[in-house]
Amino acid sequence: MADPIQLDVPVLPDLYVCTTCRVGAEGSLDAPRPGALLHEALQAANQASPSVRLLGVECLAQCPVGCSAAIAMPGKWTYLLGHLLPELAEDLLAYARLYAAARTGTVMPSRRPETLRDMIQGRTPGFGQSIAS
Ligand code: FES
Repeated sequence: MADPIQLDVPVLPDLYVCTTCRVGAEGSLDAPRPGALLHEALQAANQASPSVRLLGVECLAQCPVGCSAAIAMPGKWTYLLGHLLPELAEDLLAYARLYAAARTGTVMPSRRPETLRDMIQGRTPGFGQSIAS
């Protein structure tokens, strides 16, 4: 019997987290940035049973909206997320699981964790993709 065909399709969404977001930082300029703290919290929460492929990035050009991230997966909308906080890491991973399970990646506000109802800042098709919603 032939081996099953191996497709190079990711099974987890990519979650890009801005590690340089500073909105909400207290104290000196040397204090840890909230974006870096969010990234650390996500690393810890995602470690045992990964829900995302976590990628730290510098600035998603959403600086005024606080801690920011973007979620993407082939065949789905890419969403820009804002108003995030380190303490919302578990909720963000719960959202990521709903995103991965949704055909187009769309998760209506009523289905998201309560703390993330207002986090969507925008969406765009993935590179080279058209998505029927
Ligand atoms: S520094 Fe985080 S979006 Fe610009």
